[in-house]
Amino acid sequence: MLYRNADCGILLRFTHVGAVFAVAVFVVGAPADSNSPSDIIKARQASMKVMAEAGKTIAGMFEGKLPYDAMTFKKSAETISRLSGDAMVIEFPATTLGPPSAAKSEIDQSREEFDALARKVASFATVISAAADKAPNGITQDMRMGSSSTMGSSLLGKRKVPAGKEDATKLPAEHALHLMLQECSSCHAKFREKVK
Ligand code: HEC
Repeated sequence: MLYRNADCGILLRFTHVGAVFAVAVFVVGAPADSNSPSDIIKARQASMKVMAEAGKTIAGMFEGKLPYDAMTFKKSAETISRLSGDAMVIEFPATTLGPPSAAKSEIDQSREEFDALARKVASFATVISAAADKAPNGITQDMRMGSSSTMGSSLLGKRKVPAGKEDATKLPAEHALHLMLQECSSCHAKFREKVK
């Protein structure tokens, strides 16, 4: 025996995972390379659509158009946080930018800015998700826009905290939602162009 028992177990597990992975790649990747630019583009466009749906669900609950349900609310926020941040950053490799995708090729020259926008979406989504834990039965007053002291005063133009320096974790969820959607729009305004 070349390997001690423990090593052997790890090796076996590795081989097993490797085999399953190889089969999965073979099956999924059979018709075309699963990492081809067009597949990456399709995948990220699908992720964006899922985020848009999730954002609508949360907004709908705040607006009273949808019944509040803590689990759905949280799941939607978690969906956005999972699909934004680093997960979003890696969905835009240089070879996939420009037509036929709506992602501008400028993304590759502005990685820092692009990545920061993706990460801001994720951090606001985390704040929104956390709010659901404290509100199992309904939207609470402190989830509402303007309910925290620092943010409330900022709406009246008396900012105690400089713009951009607010502690995001103290934001009411509704405010976090608005700021998050602004990040979506800022990124689109700068890095997306309509094709066709
Ligand atoms: C860091 C930049 C960035 C952020 C942040 C971002 N997007 Fe996008 N989004 C893009 C780009 C670039 C495209 C074009 C993708 C393509 O066509 O390949 C896009 C496309 C879309 C689309 C169209 C998808 C399709 O079917 O073609 C929707 C809907 C969308 N985004 C929603 C959102 C929502 C909702 C958020 C926030 C929760 C968001 N996006 C955040 C960059 C961003």
